[in-house]
Amino acid sequence: MTRTLVIVKPDAIERGLAGEIVSRLERKGLRLVAAELRTITRDVAERHYAEHKGKPFYEDLVAFITRSPALVMVVGGPDEETYGVVRTLMGATNPKQAAPGTIRGDLAVEMTENLVHGSDSPESARREIALFFPGLG
Ligand code: RTP
Ligand code: MG
Repeated sequence: MTRTLVIVKPDAIERGLAGEIVSRLERKGLRLVAAELRTITRDVAERHYAEHKGKPFYEDLVAFITRSPALVMVVGGPDEETYGVVRTLMGATNPKQAAPGTIRGDLAVEMTENLVHGSDSPESARREIALFFPGLG
């Protein structure tokens, strides 16, 4: 089994969509390995989104991801493609362009409130799992 990090973002928790999103991942065949509802600290958010530091949307992104609790999860799937399976279920970053049938395509409309994060490579998955769940072997 290969693991990847998923965050059900604060907007999804506020809208009561956590169950819907977890359910879509589980029905696809992915499994929960770890999960915690937590308010992400600014320090962790800055390390998580380090690749975006300096971009125009960076400060808003950090404020958004830390504004209220998020469901931070490690999800397991069959192989190194697991991160990509999650990304496909999520849909395009901009929900206006995300395909129907995807989480963002079906349930979101604003780029800033796009409901879910998924690691974008096996390397990102390893880095992000270590950041959010340092105790997970
Ligand atoms: P995420 O990291 O949250 O899973 O999203 P992603 O890979 O699909 O998109 P990414 O490029 O990593 O961007 C992270 C988040 O920043 C916001 N964003 N805004 N205004 C903009 O041009 C812009 N670009 C990105 C989005 O909320 C995106 O989820
Ligand atoms: Mg990303």
